[in-house]
Amino acid sequence: MHILITGGAGFIGSHLAERLIAQGHQVSALDNLSTGRLDNLRALSGNPAFELVEGDILDPGLVDALTRKADMVFHLAAAVGVKLIMDEPSRSILTNVTGTENVLRAALADNTPVFLASTSEVYGKTASFPFREDSDLTLGATVNLRWSYACSKQLDEFLALAFHRERGLPVVILRFFNTTGPRQTGRYGMVLPNFVQNALYGKPLMVHGDGRQSRCFGHVLDVVEALVRLMDRPAAIGQVFNIGTSEEITIGDLARRVIALTNSPSKIELIPYENVYPEGFEDMDRRLPDVSKLQKLTGFKPERTLDQIITDIIAEKRCEAVQ
Ligand SMILES: NC(=O)c1ccc[n+]([C@@H]2O[C@H](COP(=O)([O-])OP(=O)(O)OC[C@H]3O[C@@H](n4cnc5c(N)ncnc54)[C@H](O)[C@@H]3O)[C@@H](O)[C@H]2O)c1
Repeated sequence: MHILITGGAGFIGSHLAERLIAQGHQVSALDNLSTGRLDNLRALSGNPAFELVEGDILDPGLVDALTRKADMVFHLAAAVGVKLIMDEPSRSILTNVTGTENVLRAALADNTPVFLASTSEVYGKTASFPFREDSDLTLGATVNLRWSYACSKQLDEFLALAFHRERGLPVVILRFFNTTGPRQTGRYGMVLPNFVQNALYGKPLMVHGDGRQSRCFGHVLDVVEALVRLMDRPAAIGQVFNIGTSEEITIGDLARRVIALTNSPSKIELIPYENVYPEGFEDMDRRLPDVSKLQKLTGFKPERTLDQIITDIIAEKRCEAVQ
């Protein structure tokens, strides 16, 4: 099969590209290298089954041409991470909304199956746990631009589901909870790579707020496995799924775990949100997915524990440090 991955030079996209090529597929990656990196594609360099097209999902002609050549599209390109969204809100909104519209419209021409990457952020301030795919979604006020990421991804989901219902477009939507592992960069505020990097250099680990907010972290290779299984199941079409783990940890405890696993002398510093984000910033206290829908359809269960994830990131950062 010829598969197009938008955002293929990114953290998740590059792991997915390797996985699909190992299965015998031909992969084209469309990426503008804004948060993606050529280095992520090192293992694929020179591989005849892979091509990188440097370009933008905001270019409808390019998206159309690449989608027409593809038998399936994994749409992962997006402005990702709360920090980036807060720093560049209008560009982020347009990337996520107009970019997705371009991909879905291009797919309509040949009814090409589309995988759409969504996010746990869409649950916003929803306070009933665990989050189910059919839970109500509660976002904050528009003056708090943080919610624009969640809103843009909600709109992506609506548009994909609308094209499915009206035009029969085969779409599958997956809401990623915190996905991490090797190749994730800390540059855009992703917590685990930042913690590991600082711990390895004996620098303080900066915990935002009181550190009691909790998250569940999934390993990127587990997530890629789920993604591939889902696109293989006709019953997934037109459906929304959560992907994540039920291993919950507070950010304060996460920092302590990283310090222990790196055997680091680093201390933890609590940083008030207002020192990092504009006034009025709201964080989500907790995010816990119900993944039973995904498990029932695909048999998927995450294989890697949080300690394995942290250990893998430590190994990668140590390796980078000696290169
Ligand atoms: N990593 C997570 O925890 C997480 C959580 C929720 C959702 N997601 C979703 O998963 C997808 C992949 O995220 P990731 O973690 O790999 O982040 P990433 O930043 O590494 O990947 C996004 C990729 O898209 C590319 N891109 C951005 N704008 C583009 C544009 N206009 N045209 C072409 N390429 C563009 C970037 O260069 C990057 O390579 C995103 O859709 C994101 O919203 C990720």
